[in-house]
Amino acid sequence: MKIVVIQGPNLNMLGIREQHIYGPMKMEQIHEQMKNFAVENGIEIEFFQSNLEGEIVDRIQECLGDADGIIINPAAYSHTSIAIRDAIAAVQIPAVEVHLSNIHAREEFRKESMTAPVCAGVIAGMGPFGYHLAMIAMTQILNEIRAAKEAQKRQQQG
Ligand code: DQA
Repeated sequence: MKIVVIQGPNLNMLGIREQHIYGPMKMEQIHEQMKNFAVENGIEIEFFQSNLEGEIVDRIQECLGDADGIIINPAAYSHTSIAIRDAIAAVQIPAVEVHLSNIHAREEFRKESMTAPVCAGVIAGMGPFGYHLAMIAMTQILNEIRAAKEAQKRQQQG
């Protein structure tokens, strides 16, 4: 089971940027915690951060035939990027969207996410713990998919 974690623009600035909103934890520390969860649960995990929309689209496309699940915080692109939304829809790999802050309690322009409708679910407002919740959610989603496939196979075999 392989999960790819994709972080959008300015998330490399966590720990520095707007600490009253995003807290003091650095992106690398969040990734370390996710890695620990992955190792404990026998999950392969890869991390990617980019400030460029096209690079995020490319990384999502690279997941095709490689990753079982995507955990993505598209950051500001959540609110604008049809290209990232289309990429998630194109690869048909289950994705969980994460936001550190509660985007629904902030400015109007943050309340809509272009990318959320093509994701299996969204976790917002839980700070860095949201990424841990996303790991749990993704594990559950992938276990359910595996169980459904196995049941289908058994049915076909009679
Ligand atoms: C964010 C929320 C976005 O509105 C913002 O542009 C970000 C971070 C979050 O994690 O809360 O960069 O995605």
